[in-house]
Amino acid sequence: MSHTITLIPGDGIGPEVADATKRALQASGARITWEVHNAGAEVAEQRGTTLPPEVLESIRRNKVALKGPIGTPIGKGFKSVNVTLRQELDLYSNVRPIRSLPGVEPRFEGTDIVIVRENTEDLYAGLELMIMPGVAQSIKLITEKCCRRICEYAFQYAERMNRKRVTVVHKANIMKLSDGLLLETFRQVAQGHPRIEPAEVIVDACAMQFVRNANKLDVIVTENLYGDILSDLGAGLVGGLGIVPGANIGSDAAVFEAVHGSAPDIAGKGIANPTALIQSAVMMLHHLKEHEAGAKIERALQHVYGEQAARTTDLGGTLTTKQFTDALCNAIAVA
Ligand code: NAI
Repeated sequence: MSHTITLIPGDGIGPEVADATKRALQASGARITWEVHNAGAEVAEQRGTTLPPEVLESIRRNKVALKGPIGTPIGKGFKSVNVTLRQELDLYSNVRPIRSLPGVEPRFEGTDIVIVRENTEDLYAGLELMIMPGVAQSIKLITEKCCRRICEYAFQYAERMNRKRVTVVHKANIMKLSDGLLLETFRQVAQGHPRIEPAEVIVDACAMQFVRNANKLDVIVTENLYGDILSDLGAGLVGGLGIVPGANIGSDAAVFEAVHGSAPDIAGKGIANPTALIQSAVMMLHHLKEHEAGAKIERALQHVYGEQAARTTDLGGTLTTKQFTDALCNAIAVA
């Protein structure tokens, strides 16, 4: 079956890793027609907006998008395209598997954590105001509806993927109402999923567990900000931002993207690691039920990282983006 997918190459290293990902998908035999639309800082210079309306229309029509990173200027100016996409398309669940690859930073060989991050509210709801000069306020918005659907998603994901435990990460000892609502809802939802063991941990203790004993963690469900921070911590455990993928899933659409940003420090040098976006595309293939194509790329990644010890410079190797992608595509062809 052929699929039409919206492709947003993005800013900085985005077009480089998007090209590599298209090559890997082509080598896998997946039949994809790309509808390319860009968004982000470079588009804003020509169009006066970081998110032209046809981008959202295309994703709404195709229901699936692959997205490169998009730069967000810090401070005043444009609202983050990433946050806007998640809110406009109600992509409420951000799934980030933190998995080690053979021989890469084997701090905890076999690390396999999945972070399910609520993607639409919390401190990222964009509710900020200056109360008076010198006093700013950000509102942490937590609703029972969003807590319930993200907890349901996490438990259903755990059941579907044969995982054992879902741990809620919170700070309800301090934020008794907002994080308390998440914790209380989690306990209710857990009762409907008796096959999965529920567990609870405070976010600071969880950060220590990541570093001390990551292999004890299984599926994590948490709020937007904690999930954002823990994802980068997890990425650091398994080799850095160059390899960790992600998926933004809603009821009507899904946008697949790496955890990393546009990496302006290495953009245009041809040395970015495309693995994170390629692994995000593998998640997309499974979402499209193209399991065989996805499994081929997974086997090829195990091979190039394992037997071939292929590494881009972020992982201490010497390969360029193109050389790494060449090796991967050759491996996909025989995987
Ligand atoms: P970043 O993730 O772009 O870079 C952090 C460090 O990791 C840099 O040293 C970079 O060279 C390295 N790195 C990241 N991805 C890499 C890859 N694939 N291969 C090799 N090295 C890689 O984070 P930073 O610098 O904080 O953000 C840059 C811009 O990206 C900002 O405008 C930020 O808002 C945006 N951003 C966008 C995201 C998205 O579109 N989902 C996510 C995170 C940040």
